[in-house]
Amino acid sequence: MSDGNVILTCRDLSLGYENITLVTGLDLEVRKGEYWCITGENGTGKTTLMKTVLGLRPALHGDVIWSDEARKSGIGYLPQQTDVQRDFPASVYEVVLSGCQGTLGFRPFYSKKAKERAALNMKRMDIYELRRRCYRELSGGQQQRVLLARSLCATGDVLIMDEPVAALDPKVTEEMYELIRKLNREDKITIIMVTHDPDAPSRFATHELRFGSEVTKHVY
Ligand SMILES: Nc1ncnc2c1ncn2[C@@H]1O[C@H](COP(=O)(O)OP(=O)(O)O)[C@@H](O)[C@H]1O
Ligand SMILES: [Mg+2]
Repeated sequence: MSDGNVILTCRDLSLGYENITLVTGLDLEVRKGEYWCITGENGTGKTTLMKTVLGLRPALHGDVIWSDEARKSGIGYLPQQTDVQRDFPASVYEVVLSGCQGTLGFRPFYSKKAKERAALNMKRMDIYELRRRCYRELSGGQQQRVLLARSLCATGDVLIMDEPVAALDPKVTEEMYELIRKLNREDKITIIMVTHDPDAPSRFATHELRFGSEVTKHVY
């Protein structure tokens, strides 16, 4: 039975591509305020699951259902980073503001509200002082904070992050974890985080979904 706190339901979901099925029969319920870690070896389908729940790819079978509330508030997405993206030639402010695109509506320019939201999220992620700098000249940790601020412009409720600390050094990784933890604990943002860090689930998560030969769920 589902309840009013369920924001994401996956029902008998099969994931994959034309020539490969990665996962079958996945049932999942994510509730408001939970912190999920999605773990597993490379190539097991973690990124594919994130893209499928976001509707960026079709499911092979089954359903992905977002609550009305989540759909209204929007879903923040921090994709897995590639080198091309790290080289993006725009200012910090432009990158963050572009996260407000879903709120543009029919108007071809950013509203005052969108600009305020971008400024607020830059302050929240402690990058406001960097706003005129070029994104590609920043360190890896600063870039991830810019992208986190950007994804926060799209939501007040749910954040999906794909390996947000990959390629960061241990100190910066801890800072990033602390920011994410604060968003979850203080701002009550539901977190769905793909990670390679074997310690992350027991340190931060309320739930773990582990991909392998079988998909297993764990509650902390
Ligand atoms: N666009 C695609 N077309 C076909 N196969 C793909 C595509 N993207 C990924 N795959 C394959 O699907 C599998 C899972 O990929 P992915 O979801 O990125 O894994 P993970 O994020 O767990 O490392 C891999 O074997 C990969 O080669
Ligand atoms: Mg991946």
